[in-house]
Amino acid sequence: MEVKTSLLDNMIGVGDMVLLEPLSEDSFLDNLKKRFDHSEIYTYIGSVVISMNPYRSLPIYTPEKVEEYRNRNFYELSPHIYALADEAYRSLRDQDKDQCILITGESGAGKTEASKLVMSYVAAVCGKGHEVNKVKEQLLQSNPVLEAFGNAKTVRNDNSSRFGKYMDIEFDFKGDPLGGVISNYLLEKSRVVKQPRGERNFHVFYQLLSGASDDTLRKLKLDRDFSKYNYLSLDSAAVNGLDDAANFRTVRNAMQIVGFMEDEVQSVLELVAAVLKLGNIEFKPESRCNGTDESRVKDKNDLKEMCELLGIEQSVLERAFSYRTVEAKMEKVSTTLNVAQAYYARDALAKNLYSRLFSWLVTRINESIQAQTKARHKVMGVLDIYGFEIFEDNSFEQFIINYCNEKLQQIFIELTLREEQEEYVREGIEWTNIEYFNNAIICDLIENNQNGILAMLDEECLRPGTVTDETFLDKLNTICADHQHFESRLNKNSKFLNDHSLPHNCFRIQHYAGKVLYRVEGFVDKNNDLLYRDLSQAMYKANHSLIKQLFPEGNPAKVNLKRPPTAGFQFRASVGTLMRNLQTKNPNYIRCIKPNDKKASHIFTDSLVCHQVRYLGLMENVRVRRAGYAFRQPYEPCLERYKMLCKRTWPHWKGPARDGVEVLMADLQIPAEEIAYGRSKIFIRNPRTLFFLEEKRKQCLQDLATLIQKIYRGWKCRTHFLLMKKSQIVVAAWYRRYAQQKKYRNIKSATTVVQSYTRGWQARKLLRELKYQKRCEEAVTTIAAFWHGTQVRREYRKFFRANAGKKIYDFTIQRIIQKYFLGLKSNMPSMSPIDKKWPARPYSFLDGVHTELRKIFHHWRCKKYRDQFTEEKKAVYEEKLEASEIFKGKKALYPSSVSQPFKGDYLEISKNPKYQKLNSAVDEKVLLADVVNKINRANGKGTPRIFLLTKKNFVLADQKTGQVKASIPLPDVTSVSVSTQKDGFFALKLKEGSASAVKGDFLLSSEHLIEIITKLHRIGATAADREKLKVDISDEFLVQFKQDKVCVKFIQSSPKNGNSVSCKRKNNRLLEVSVPTSP
Ligand SMILES: Nc1ncnc2c1ncn2[C@@H]1O[C@H](COP(=O)(O)OP(=O)(O)O)[C@@H](O)[C@H]1O
Ligand SMILES: [Mg+2]
Repeated sequence: MEVKTSLLDNMIGVGDMVLLEPLSEDSFLDNLKKRFDHSEIYTYIGSVVISMNPYRSLPIYTPEKVEEYRNRNFYELSPHIYALADEAYRSLRDQDKDQCILITGESGAGKTEASKLVMSYVAAVCGKGHEVNKVKEQLLQSNPVLEAFGNAKTVRNDNSSRFGKYMDIEFDFKGDPLGGVISNYLLEKSRVVKQPRGERNFHVFYQLLSGASDDTLRKLKLDRDFSKYNYLSLDSAAVNGLDDAANFRTVRNAMQIVGFMEDEVQSVLELVAAVLKLGNIEFKPESRCNGTDESRVKDKNDLKEMCELLGIEQSVLERAFSYRTVEAKMEKVSTTLNVAQAYYARDALAKNLYSRLFSWLVTRINESIQAQTKARHKVMGVLDIYGFEIFEDNSFEQFIINYCNEKLQQIFIELTLREEQEEYVREGIEWTNIEYFNNAIICDLIENNQNGILAMLDEECLRPGTVTDETFLDKLNTICADHQHFESRLNKNSKFLNDHSLPHNCFRIQHYAGKVLYRVEGFVDKNNDLLYRDLSQAMYKANHSLIKQLFPEGNPAKVNLKRPPTAGFQFRASVGTLMRNLQTKNPNYIRCIKPNDKKASHIFTDSLVCHQVRYLGLMENVRVRRAGYAFRQPYEPCLERYKMLCKRTWPHWKGPARDGVEVLMADLQIPAEEIAYGRSKIFIRNPRTLFFLEEKRKQCLQDLATLIQKIYRGWKCRTHFLLMKKSQIVVAAWYRRYAQQKKYRNIKSATTVVQSYTRGWQARKLLRELKYQKRCEEAVTTIAAFWHGTQVRREYRKFFRANAGKKIYDFTIQRIIQKYFLGLKSNMPSMSPIDKKWPARPYSFLDGVHTELRKIFHHWRCKKYRDQFTEEKKAVYEEKLEASEIFKGKKALYPSSVSQPFKGDYLEISKNPKYQKLNSAVDEKVLLADVVNKINRANGKGTPRIFLLTKKNFVLADQKTGQVKASIPLPDVTSVSVSTQKDGFFALKLKEGSASAVKGDFLLSSEHLIEIITKLHRIGATAADREKLKVDISDEFLVQFKQDKVCVKFIQSSPKNGNSVSCKRKNNRLLEVSVPTSP
């Protein structure tokens, strides 16, 4: 469980001065001191935070502390600046109220530190993210840049802000920073040229000289030596605990983060360097003939370097330091400057250069940090303005600064004291008035339009004629003489005539924070803030973009003869704007108090603190706070906010809001003294009561949230449940369908199986039955057939025995013969007559038929063969047949002749021209013509002779000449004799007594013996007039040679005696022919 803490826990003294008892100045200071001694630097007066400067770093700004204070109620923890920052930020974010944080206090009281702490806290607790972080970083980093250029070491504060700063931080509706706008107020520029003793010029000069690299310094034509520059005071150049070199790097880095370009940084540094150089320019008088002194630049080196830095023509600037041109109504008058005027001009230029540079920096930073969106935004303003200043020597600046503080006090009074009390009256709350000092009268003394000091100063400045600070003081003395807060020696009827603490050239104002003596010297000048036009024009001519921008009035085209508004006027205007701005916002106060004048820790100077407590009006603050009510709110928003705390007002209250609030408070049992009911508002005395309400509300909201959550969750769960249920039904339906389908399919397939088995079984059964039936039928048929067969056979046996055997036999034989013929037909031999092949017979009883058929086939084949023959071929074959009849088996020569065709005319007698005579001699057709050997009857030797045979005769003719030797008619030839052997001898025997037979028979020899004889025989056979020629075949026959009968005998000789047949006449009676035996 969360442990509730409170401001009251472990309290040192009292954390809230409102609780102080008894309330007196002493107890107030004691309380502050006690807390300060225990390092409790923050104390509340209600919602105002008093901050004591500890002058040492305390471990109370850690990130853990930030977390501790984050989102906690103001009074929950011990007083802290974070509590105020958190309160402001949350009411900005959650209640949409623009906030301003007003930090007041003397110089060195810790205002700037406080403003930084507030900003860093807000940065830490607001949104995160890349863009947001960038914006935060830029906002935070704008501080070091402005501090370098706008802060300086003073006797009161080593890091004193010499300008007023008001920064608006802009947030979106979520509370994320969007950007910011900085306004600056009156830089104390006199510091640039002169610093009071023990103080320094602005930090940046020292930072640049100590921190810049040698290279940078060379470029800027500077030396790392403070003593070389007139504008830098030397007695406190080095400040304890201030590292200028390191700070320079921080500043450069910050400038980069804020978004300065490298060339912009360079330009800025060039201007800073130029200011330093400017301070070193010195003048000397140069007497003129008219007796006046004219100023001249003493050593031109610095002038030259400065002109080089800024790109200004040296002669132009030099002239501007010696002459002054005054323009008035078309007239230009040039006057010379004396040395003092030249120095004045120089310093004015330096101050202007620097202060304009500073304003430019602020504008430039604003460009970077301004919000990028035009969306509606909420604003938190942080005001850190220079604190009240009382120096030994107070001038125009202090006057202005103190005026500003006076205004701030005014606004504080307005909003806290007067406003508060007035409200009580307005609301009709019973109220005892608390006395407090209202400084409106002092503000009026300064800013009144008619006779205010600033108005008179302006008047004096604009007045023609000689105007000096003294004339201004005179004026003041006359006009403000009666003012109770104005004191002056010269005031005629003044009670201060003998007040020696008040010098003649001074006036004193009783500020709310104390009396301040102002020396009038310089008031007029500073208010005029005069820069000779020649100088601004010289600056405008510079070849340096930044300088040109800073001196727009130097543009000759825009010469404005009207005087620029005075410094006092400008300041009054901007303070006015600021005040109006602050009044629109919800103020949060931090009142800073410095504990001692020595910037030392642990020292608590009572008198100093007491003084501050007094002039800050803190006691009055407490008193008002204690007498009054801590919190007020119109009835409507109050009821709206807390109505849930009471059943009667929740959720709606019908009736006036005030009654509702009363009912509500009564219901909550808030003690009557804690609340007051005003006309339109309820007032709550104690913050604790408010916190009680808030706590209750928070609790109630939590309960409500729980309730809403509960209902929402219930609704959500129910909706979800219903959806699930619906879905479940759908799913179940689908599933059931699926399950049923599956089951159905299973049953179906099982059924099919069972069915198939059953059917199979039935079918098999049926099949068996059918088979059995069929077998029975077959058996019956068979039995019937047998039975019928038996019956029939018994019936027909008698017929069968008589005829059937023969018929079967015939049929069988017929079948066999048919088969035989068909077989023969398919196996017929070829058609060649000499082919001996003949298929074998299948059955021996077919032998005869088979042989006969073979014979018939052969004859038929031969006939077919013969049918092909021609007549000639037939004749040839007839001849050959005849030859065979004559000689076959009788003569050994015959076989060799079978293959020789009977050609007949071997000599081609009719064609051969040689035998033409012979041919013509033979009148008949020549049947045969051949060369034969005619055996000499006497010696047996052969002579070749042509042998011609015709149908009627044969002719022997000389082979060479063709002369016919003998022509014998065939009827004279009776017979022919030949041997049985292979020789070709034949003897033609002639009819005895015929004319041809005179010389005897002819014995001839021919190779074609068989043909000759066959032809002779045929002729004889065909001739009707003669007898058939007789052919004798024997190895011994007789021939008739003339009268002699000679025996021709054929003997066989051995082949050794030569292969040829030889014929020899052995004697009268014998002619021996030896025929070699064939091998
Ligand atoms: N809360 C603080 N914790 C530590 N030191 C502080 C604190 N507030 C101020 N100081 C010291 O006091 C000095 C002056 O504070 P600063 O805020 O510059 O004063 P102011 O702005 O009011 O003139 C700072 O430089 C710092 O050293
Ligand atoms: Mg400051």
